[in-house]
Amino acid sequence: MKIPNKATLELSHDEMKAYGYEVVDAIVNHFATQNEKLPVVSGSRKEMEDLFLEDAPDNPTDPHEVLNFVLNEVMTKSNIVSHPKSYSFVPGPSNYISAMADSLASGFNIFSGGWQASPAAAEMEIVTMNWLLKMFGFPQKKGGGIFTSGGSMANLTALATARKVKCGDDFSKAVIYLSDQAHSSNIKAIRVLGFRKEQIRVIPTDGEFKFSINKLKNAIAKDRLEGLQPFCLIATAGTTNTGTVDPLSDLAKICKNEEIWFHIDGAYGGFAILSEDGKKIMKGIGKADSLTVDPHKWFFQPYEIGCLLIKNHKWLKGTFTEKPEYLRDIEGNTSEINFYDHGIELTRRFRALKFYMSVKTFGMTEFKKAISYNIKLAEAAENFLRTSANWEIISPATLAVINFRYNPIGNKLSEKKLDALNQKISQSVVNSKKALLVTTVLNKQVVLRMCLINPRTTLNDVKETIALCESFANQNSSN
Ligand SMILES: Cc1ncc(COP(=O)(O)O)c(C=O)c1O
Repeated sequence: MKIPNKATLELSHDEMKAYGYEVVDAIVNHFATQNEKLPVVSGSRKEMEDLFLEDAPDNPTDPHEVLNFVLNEVMTKSNIVSHPKSYSFVPGPSNYISAMADSLASGFNIFSGGWQASPAAAEMEIVTMNWLLKMFGFPQKKGGGIFTSGGSMANLTALATARKVKCGDDFSKAVIYLSDQAHSSNIKAIRVLGFRKEQIRVIPTDGEFKFSINKLKNAIAKDRLEGLQPFCLIATAGTTNTGTVDPLSDLAKICKNEEIWFHIDGAYGGFAILSEDGKKIMKGIGKADSLTVDPHKWFFQPYEIGCLLIKNHKWLKGTFTEKPEYLRDIEGNTSEINFYDHGIELTRRFRALKFYMSVKTFGMTEFKKAISYNIKLAEAAENFLRTSANWEIISPATLAVINFRYNPIGNKLSEKKLDALNQKISQSVVNSKKALLVTTVLNKQVVLRMCLINPRTTLNDVKETIALCESFANQNSSN
């Protein structure tokens, strides 16, 4: 049999270098100039297809030509989520060291699934997980955790574990509780896990958007009376809408008394614990059975890195271990952790590396400073808005999130017209591409929401954005 020509998919040493330097130059240039660019892009499906749609080519193209096309056409057609005026959803401020760490992880193509494939990667995940366990007051020796692609996967991993530990294989009577402000990824996870609609209790929040303890207690009591099994409660430490932290200590007590698994979703807000103010608000977070935090949000890491912390590492192993014959030879001894046994993924990229390198390089003090700055910035933004008769604060600055709406004192606009006006302001700001500021709905009112977790954002950026909003408000009021 004739063996076909070898296909190596390789470049020469010099070609690789030249190519790599161009990539690094582009990334450095992006970091250096992003503040001056417009944070918002737009593009219809047709425009994107006109640019990119083609059949997979059989023949090669010069690598620099492909790279230039990508730099000019692809990289320019995404919102800059690390831009100082990118306020919406949860921004991704990122940092250069971690971006380079990700390049190393990909460049060396480290398999971060099992101990034997990379003892250093596994140990680094153990070490960084220990830092996180300590940060959040989780037990050091008994506790454990795993890096995931993001908060959604961390929540799914947590709820799968909760179900296994509390219900075993029969979860037909299990009931799960969460507030109407819990992030949608939790409901998604619950559905993925196969729970029926009747097994989910969405508890209304109180006037401050916090879990209503009385309503929760009533719901649990009613479910017990009906012979159901309350098994898991999901609290939020930093709701996406308003930054609100649920009454964690009270909820922890209820869960303890009722033997309910206590999961806290701190995906966006959890890292506030690194600031003095946040630490007070986060009281009780260490009492959770499981906690989601998302380093790719307020710990300034590039996508993707989420994290699940757990009170007892054995719970993860008990939920996710499978023993196929083809992984026999890499099982190792019991002290050598195979992270594929602690979560859903087998093949995993080396996420701990960026966490490790950025913390080692900048030091925790710098991270703490950035987070404290963000919290103070949101408070300063609130104070600034309060000096104007045009703006109404709907939910005050909490964990760097603030909600407000244009509602000049003495105006005679109906609620419907105010909603339309604020929607229009947001649309006009986004259409101008000068800032990414979108709306949410609180108490049935359309409001503008600013999430200020980017250390690059200044109070002046906020003031300029408010001035932009006012200019559009004036245009739309006079129309
Ligand atoms: C509270 C909360 N939980 C979970 C998520 C989902 O995280 P991810 O987008 O990393 O999957 C988010 C995202 O904004 C969030 O704010």
